[in-house]
Amino acid sequence: MAKKFSEILQEVKEKLTSADTSKILTEIKVDFLGKNGVVTGLLKGMRDLAPEERPLLGQQVNSLRSQIEELIKNREEAVKQRELQKKFQDEAIDITLPGKVGELGTLHPITMVKNDLIDAFSGLGFVVYEGPEIESDVVNFQMLNIPEDHPARDMQDTFYITDSILLRTHTSPGQVHVMTSSKPPIKVMCPGRTYRSDDDATHSPIFHQIEGLVVDKNLSLCDLKGTLEEILKHIFGKDIKTRLRPSYFPFTEPSVEVDVSCFECGGKGCKLCKGTGWIEVLGAGMVNRKVLKNCGIDPDVYTGYAFGIGLERIAMLKYHIPDIRMFFDDDLRFVKQFK
Ligand code: PHE
Repeated sequence: MAKKFSEILQEVKEKLTSADTSKILTEIKVDFLGKNGVVTGLLKGMRDLAPEERPLLGQQVNSLRSQIEELIKNREEAVKQRELQKKFQDEAIDITLPGKVGELGTLHPITMVKNDLIDAFSGLGFVVYEGPEIESDVVNFQMLNIPEDHPARDMQDTFYITDSILLRTHTSPGQVHVMTSSKPPIKVMCPGRTYRSDDDATHSPIFHQIEGLVVDKNLSLCDLKGTLEEILKHIFGKDIKTRLRPSYFPFTEPSVEVDVSCFECGGKGCKLCKGTGWIEVLGAGMVNRKVLKNCGIDPDVYTGYAFGIGLERIAMLKYHIPDIRMFFDDDLRFVKQFK
């Protein structure tokens, strides 16, 4: 029996010298000390011994167990250390390497112009209302005093979903939504996407506008001019002048086209202003009495003014962009210039 003990011990030692992972160590533990392991097997041999011999064997087996435990424990220490070292090595970071620089994006120039205008209008007390891009013919045209067969529809041909449902041709339907759902005083801006079946260097089938609408008692064209002058100075600089020219929109009366003095040449005449000294920037007017009435507002009590600003047009002027299609090409080289 003594021989068997020393053989077992020898076997454990041999196995341990080549055991270099925790996994192998666990296997050895199970093989020798586990429920069905070698040492437990020895205890089972007790049955064949005389009762007086049993305590001795018990002692011997226990001592063998402790020795094996000790051996494994020592080996475990070494293996753990080695594994830790290896982990440190594998996960080592070279702190002298240059860091990874996350590339920062930039806002699209249309978004920049939009945010800038929203800022400026907010300062004057306007609140944002965003209406749907899919509109009914009634709201996009008829309520705004553009009946079927009105010649003004020619300039605003669009994409139809059904005969009476379409992609809005301007943000002016926002006026209708606000006036039919709230009472004056009203002071809103409606930024958003708009659509027309146009496509050339200065017209895109999809473009952006900001509508402005103010309805209150005793408003006049002077209020319109003062408000717009403030906004346009914010966009094009303090030195510009503004002028109103008579124009026509079915939903405003009188209607005006608003020009700013050329911010390139100061009004002397240059390529940008085509020698005239003035640049047309937006359409506006006093809200037509018919439109107020259509929306349930008494035109004998209230007056209003409205304006529509094309964001692409403003951005093209401000940043000297020659072709409207550049906004929609998704060319990062273009967008990155506005950082
Ligand atoms: N809706 C007009 C357009 O898109 C612009 C406009 C808005 C004109 C409000 C007057 C008043 O051309």
